[in-house]
Amino acid sequence: MSAIIINGGNRLSGELNIQGAKNSVLPVLAATVLCGGECVIHNCPELSDVETSIRILAHLGCFCLRDGNSIIVNSSGMNSFEIPDVLMREMRSSVVFLGAIIGRTGRAVISSPGGCELGPRPIDLHLDALSKMGVVIKEERGFLNCTAPGGLHGAEIHLSFPSVGATENIILAAAVAKGSTVIHNAAKEPEISDLADFLNSAGARIYGCGSDTIEIHGVNSLNGTEHTIIPDRIAAATYMAAAAVTGGTLTLNNVMPSHLVAVMWVFRECGCVVEPYGKTIVLRAPERLKRVPTVRSQVYPGFPTDAGPIVIAMLTKADGTSVFAENIFQNRFRYIDELRRFGAKIKTEDRVAVVEGVPRLSAADAECTDLRGGAALVIAALAANGTSEITQIQHIERGYDNITGCFSSIGADISLKK
Ligand code: UD1
Repeated sequence: MSAIIINGGNRLSGELNIQGAKNSVLPVLAATVLCGGECVIHNCPELSDVETSIRILAHLGCFCLRDGNSIIVNSSGMNSFEIPDVLMREMRSSVVFLGAIIGRTGRAVISSPGGCELGPRPIDLHLDALSKMGVVIKEERGFLNCTAPGGLHGAEIHLSFPSVGATENIILAAAVAKGSTVIHNAAKEPEISDLADFLNSAGARIYGCGSDTIEIHGVNSLNGTEHTIIPDRIAAATYMAAAAVTGGTLTLNNVMPSHLVAVMWVFRECGCVVEPYGKTIVLRAPERLKRVPTVRSQVYPGFPTDAGPIVIAMLTKADGTSVFAENIFQNRFRYIDELRRFGAKIKTEDRVAVVEGVPRLSAADAECTDLRGGAALVIAALAANGTSEITQIQHIERGYDNITGCFSSIGADISLKK
């Protein structure tokens, strides 16, 4: 069984290059299905979720090749519209292939993503929107059988919640639908804009990303293109939190400070000096972090839900009591029981965590329950005195490219046990 072994307590300082964004590369890889030619995607992190996307593309009949941090996809030979259940189960976010496959072939069969580690993760908003665009959806034996008998057409869509995945699926289908689509109350996350930038460079006509109204004028077909994935703001937050909790000084390269405004605010409230310069952020942490006023996860540009576990892990050693309110997912606190093994004092009620900072954490053996919860355990272990063992690290490998290498390059005593 693989594990991450950490001998904690080292001050983490130095310089790191931040990987490309997981939540951008996955929809962009799905979008290559629409292009029907060769796409070259740069700054692709090495993650198991990216490998799963490549396997899905290969299953659909696309040619895929990884060359360092670039992935080449040629979807001209695409000959399937089905994603097998085993690949869907590996990565629930593969639901974003739905809009792309229907857009390309007029048909798609995927298994229903169902519930998951963060609580129920419905896709009703995706399906309602697609049906407004001419997709007929039948649920049969756990599979969603989708067809567009009259072809896809544009529609006026009001999302009752600005879902990231639903916004992406609508953009993908609308890019090649007949006529125009308007999404009201669209998600504004930077990864949405990255997807639109990729599609526009392939010939799509998508306007307004980053605002809550997105307009998509459908085109007949898209062509191959070249694109560079934006930096991963959650990976950046993770390395910042580890440096902050150990009193270090960290320079992050290849980041977009404008994507991290809400995150930088929390670090500053904790007493860190955080200075953005162009595509770099320098963080200098005090000897001991301060408590923060209530942090609430919100849709972008609010504080990201994915950075919640990371910041909670950091606050376990702050001076005073902090409160975190999770507003996006129903059941995001499963990792907190594992965090308590390190001596963290955290009380939870419903979607609120009250974190009473302690002066010291002690080493522990802990099991990852999900991707960002797993990152929280790594941060706690880096901050704790003694040797910790973190297991079930396949969750971490979904989203962090070479996490042990990155942490050891800034002074952590960390290794991977295979
Ligand atoms: C994406 C990100 C994930 C991040 C989340 C919120 C990817 C691959 N994943 O997930 O890391 O935590 O955005 O920033 O990009 N909902 C519905 N019905 C729907 C769709 C969503 O009720 O049809 C609810 C969800 O249950 C959840 C909330 O809306 O409570 C947010 O979900 P959504 O924005 O769709 O997140 P994902 O796209 O799944």
